Parts: sequence; structure tokens; C-alpha cells
Amino acid sequence: MSSKSASIYQDTYRAAQDDPETFWAQAAEAVHWTRRWDRVLDDTDAPYYRWFTGGELNTCYNALDLHVEQGRGEQAALVYDSAVTEIRRSYSFAELRDAVALFAGVLATRGVSKGDRVIIYMPMVPEAVIAMLACARIGAVHSVVFGGFAANELAVRIDDATPKAIVSASCGIEPGRVIAYKPLLDEAISLATHQPDFCVVLQRPQIEATLQTGRDVDWEEAVSQASPQDCVPVKATDPLYILYTSGTTGQPKGVVRDNGGHVVALKWTMENIYGVKPGETFWAASDVGWVVGHSYIVYAPLFAGNTTVLYEGKPVGTPDPGAFWRVISENQVSVLFTAPTAFRAIKKEDPTGEHIRRYDLSALRYLFLAGERTDPDTLHWAEEKLDIPVVDHWWQTETGWSIAANCVGIELLPIKEGSPSVAVPGWDLRALDEDGKEIAAGKIGTLAAKLPLPPGTFPTLWNAPERYYDSYLSQFPGYYNTSDAGIIDNDGYIYVMSRTDDIINVAGHRLSTGAMEEVLADHPDVAECAVTGVADELKGQVPLGFLVLSAGCDRPEGEINAEVVALVRERIGPVAAFKQALVVKRLPKTRSGKVLRGTMRSIADGQPWKMPATIDDPAILDEIAQALSDIGYPRQA
Ligand code: COA
Ligand code: AMP
Repeated sequence: MSSKSASIYQDTYRAAQDDPETFWAQAAEAVHWTRRWDRVLDDTDAPYYRWFTGGELNTCYNALDLHVEQGRGEQAALVYDSAVTEIRRSYSFAELRDAVALFAGVLATRGVSKGDRVIIYMPMVPEAVIAMLACARIGAVHSVVFGGFAANELAVRIDDATPKAIVSASCGIEPGRVIAYKPLLDEAISLATHQPDFCVVLQRPQIEATLQTGRDVDWEEAVSQASPQDCVPVKATDPLYILYTSGTTGQPKGVVRDNGGHVVALKWTMENIYGVKPGETFWAASDVGWVVGHSYIVYAPLFAGNTTVLYEGKPVGTPDPGAFWRVISENQVSVLFTAPTAFRAIKKEDPTGEHIRRYDLSALRYLFLAGERTDPDTLHWAEEKLDIPVVDHWWQTETGWSIAANCVGIELLPIKEGSPSVAVPGWDLRALDEDGKEIAAGKIGTLAAKLPLPPGTFPTLWNAPERYYDSYLSQFPGYYNTSDAGIIDNDGYIYVMSRTDDIINVAGHRLSTGAMEEVLADHPDVAECAVTGVADELKGQVPLGFLVLSAGCDRPEGEINAEVVALVRERIGPVAAFKQALVVKRLPKTRSGKVLRGTMRSIADGQPWKMPATIDDPAILDEIAQALSDIGYPRQA
């Protein structure tokens, strides 16, 4: 890189843009391959691109064995810090490799091999990470399902992924309650058409699960009898995992991640985006059930030889708003990555930052936030209280790593509030109008990335290549449609404003309002319904339901509301945070019958809104505004 250059970031960005194959081939030199690739970028099946075709490697080897061989065997690889059980446990790279190799043996001796799927439905315990890496070790494809989803959601994923095995635990621990996972697992298996060959269950002391003879295996017992398995080389293009994410319907999308591009890209991000060096501690305060957990609790830090922290707890209440600062000081965390909602929760309970001053945070260099836009209040509070750069960065389950960020490892650019900064090298981002034409700087459009996407993103959707094309590639030929609307300013800074579909972000968790509507519509007294995300001080957004009751229904509205709230919790799970529905006489619609969810959201949020020209009956919006006002909306004018 030229020392005379005005911006190292710009030089790096240009290099990735002008010659992506050379750029990513250089990054791939840092990865251990058992067979070198034939082609860096394979466009023979465009727009389905492949990276590093012909190459072979093992993801687990790159995460663990390689570091042991290179002298990091004694360094902590994984620190488990459970604020809810007060257990702290550390695994060195050598210990983690051995634990993973043994669990790989548990799976392999029961018939799991390359290409087989394994569902992992677990709380935030080290065994979840061990199970993921064990799958990678033998070339099996894992699919982690977040613990806050209900049995029905798990069943949908079982039927789509058709796993040979499911790995679970007896319980998860939420503040104030222990959640028995095993009954949820049993119910999911009974709801599903596909049946796994076996389940491995980790017994936690808080709840002892009843095991089904012939199908369920006790984790400890199985591991005690297992023999360690070596890493199995897989093709760079073979799937490493499937991660289901919300789509516009109740059928989630199975985002597929490959092995080769994933190791290359994620390893590159650690130094270049996050500015951490091998040996330092990186903490993503998320959950292994989400993409952030996959990429930045498990894979990227381990690829890069960092110590990663697995935290079981909340930012507040476990036991206080100093929980994050305790973990940072005890583990000398260099970089923290979490969602803005976690900071809003801390700020609410400790506005003056009293708890921050109780701990030594001198190791902490950067705070990265993602999952939703970082609001200026949270940004400035965190900057002021921590006195370090606070970096908002934008990404999606689909992309696996960030599309836009302030790449502090390359060059810390000025921070502009409300913006996740600039496109990361490898990403060619444009704001497009409805016809796919580029929009002038400063004007809002759909954010789209020019194909091919960089390595480590997603080559397809599991079992649904047509849906991949239809959902992401068809609207703007030659581009990946992010389904986020936003602005790119004259300096190339990106502002992500809102989703263009019906996805909402609740406490950094991505949820489909369409899926919630499907559940509400199943209630016998609901004739029509709509769900929209309304602004929430803590969670960013929360879902709000609108119900039109069936003709002749004279049951109390409160009763029906309670029933639909319970139904969403039962079918989708507590994570949906669906707590309120509102009975209305009619739903506002366009003349073509499209429900005006966006307008209802604007009214609820106290935002300016225009009467849509195509509305079939303008009086309905007044009725909606009145009904919302009766229950206290808008909450923040
Ligand atoms: N298993 C079972 N239930 C779970 C669960 C799990 N793994 N995770 C969450 N839930 C439940 C919670 O107990 C809660 O249930 P409740 O309605 O009975 O209270 C519900 O799902 C919603 O959970 P959550 O969204 O976590 O809300 P909360 O009120 O418990 O906590 C925050 C609020 C802001 C503290 C919390 O959401 C948080 O820390 N967010 C950080 C977000 C994050 O990590 N995002 C990932 C992207 S970086
Ligand atoms: P998920 O797939 O759960 O990671 O959610 C992805 C969605 O979260 C994106 O499409 C955005 O709508 C939103 N999102 C994530 N990060 C940001 C950010 N930094 N700024 C604004 N929105 C974000």
C-alpha cells in the first residue's frame, strides 16, 4: 500500500474492486488448505457464483488444530462466562480441539458423515460451540436454532434440514426462570414429518431431562465412550452450515454458508474490520443462534487465533448493569461487539455510567454495534462513557459479515452519527430506484450490492435455489437486493433507514411480521389481521397486531388479545416479544387490497404520514389513529 495515499481505506477498497480475485487469493494465503483452489471466483453458473472452486480444507482445522500446531495450544480459545449460573470455564486451543474431536466421535460413530445435517438447539453453553465445530470437523452441516424459538419453529427447521441428529440440552436459563428445552424438542420432533436417527442431550443440573430410550443419548456418557475424530477435508464450496432466518412468510429461509470463502473472508475481517491481533480477546455479546454468534462468537475469532468469550446472561439484571464491564475487565477484552439495544438497556439502568467506573476497561479499544441502526443518543452515550471509538456496522444473516463498516484495522475514518460508515472492501454498494437505476447521492433508494458478492456470503438457500433467485437477485438483475432502504452520501457513507419488506428488528432479533400474521389469522375469532413494528425505546421495534374480528363475535376484546398473544408465543416463541394487539373495525387498504401497514406504523410512531392516494376509504385511518390513541400511541411523538 502506498504511504503517499490519501486514504489507506480507499486504496484497499480499490484493490478489492479492481481485482477481486487477486485480493481474495491473497487473503486465502492465510488459510490452511489441503488442496489449493483451481479458480478463485467461479462464474460458470452466474448469477450463482462460487469462490475457491477446486480447493479443499477443513473449517475446524483452521479454527483449532492449526493454532495448536503453530504454538497457540495453551492460549485460551474459549472463555465461558455464565452470569446466570456463576460458572466460568476456559478452554485452551488444545483442550477445545480435544473436546471437539471427541464429540465428533460421538456423531461419527452414530453414522453422521460428510454432508449430513445436524440441528443444534442449545442455550449459551460451551457444548453448543463444541457441537458446531464437531460438525465442521467431520464435514457435517450444522443448523443452529435459537433457543427462544418455540417447538413449532424448530419443527419447521427439522423438516427443511432433515437432520440425522439433533443436539440439545435439558434447559436454558433466562433471568428468573429455567426453560426446559427437552419438552420443546420432543414436541418439535412429534410435530415434524422428518425424524432424526438420534438426539444427544446435555444434562444441566438445573433440570434433568427424561431421555427416550433408543433415540436419546446422554452427552456426558456418549463423550466418555467416544474416540476422537480427525478433520475431514471438504470442498471449499461444500456447505458448512444452514442458518434459518425470517423471510416474508412463516417458512424461514435457510441461508447456506460454504467452507472455503467463509474461512477466507472471516479471518480477513478480524484484523481489517475489527482491528484485533491474534492472541487478543474478542467478545461478541450475542447468541450462537444468530448470525453474529456464528461468525463472531465461534468462527472468526478462532480462525484468527483470538480468545472468544461465550457469555450466558443479559446486559442488565444478571446481576446488574455492570455485567458487561465485569466480563471485559476479567478477560481483558480488546473489542466488544453487541447490539445497540443492549446499550440502551444498560444506559436506562445506569445513565451516569457508575458501574463502568467500577471496572478496569483499559484493554477495550473498540465497541462495534450492529443488528439495527445505532441511534445517536446511544452512540454518544457509549462514546462518552467508554472514551473509545463506537462503530456502527451493517450486515445481515445472508451476508455473514458486514457490508458497511468503519474498518478500524485498515483505517479509522471519521464517524458520522446514524451511519454504519462506508462499504467494506469487497462490497460494491448502490442505492437504486424501483427501475434499478442508480439514485443520486443523498437520495433514498433500495440498497443493493453488485454481484458477485464477496466470499463468505451465501451461495444459495437450502433446498430453495429458486427462492434465492426470486428473493434476492431477480428484482435488480446483476445485483443482490438487501431489502434495506437507505442513502449513500457524497462521501460514500451509507445510511440504512428501514426494511423494504415486512421484516422487523426486535431487540436486535430479526422477525417476520408476515409469520406473526399467519399465526393471528389462525385464531377462530380473527377475520383479518395485520402486524407492524412500532418504535420501542428499549427494543428499537416491537410488533403490534391489528385484529378485525369475525362477524358476530361478541367475546371481550381483552380475552381475544390475551389468546393471540399466547398463540404467537406458543407458535413462534417468546423471542417474538408479541405483547399487544388492537381490535379495529376494518384495516386500511389500497384499492387493490394491499394493507397499509407502513401508514399504520407511522401513525403509531407519531411520524408524519400522507393519506395514500390509492386508499379505498380514508375514514379508516382516522379510526385507527383513534384506536391507537386509546391505548397510548404515539408513545414518542
Ligand atoms: N431461550 C428461551 N427464551 C428466550 C431466550 C432463549 N435463548 N432468549 C430470549 N428468550 C425470551 C426472554 O426470556 C423473553 O421472554 P419474556 O417475554 O418472558 O420476558 C423474550 O424471549 C424476549 O427476549 P429478549 O428479546 O432477549 O428480551 P429481554 O427483555 O429478555 O431482554 C435485552 C432485553 C435488550 C436486554 C436483550 O434483548 C438483549 O440483551 N439484547 C441484545 C441483542 C442481541 O444480542 N442481539 C443479537 C445481535 S448482535
Ligand atoms: P439479521 O439478519 O438478523 O442480521 O438482520 C439484518 C437486518 O438488520 C438488516 O437487513 C437491517 O435491516 C438491520 N441492520 C443490521 N445492522 C444494521 C445497522 N448497523 N444499521 C441499520 N440496520 C441494521
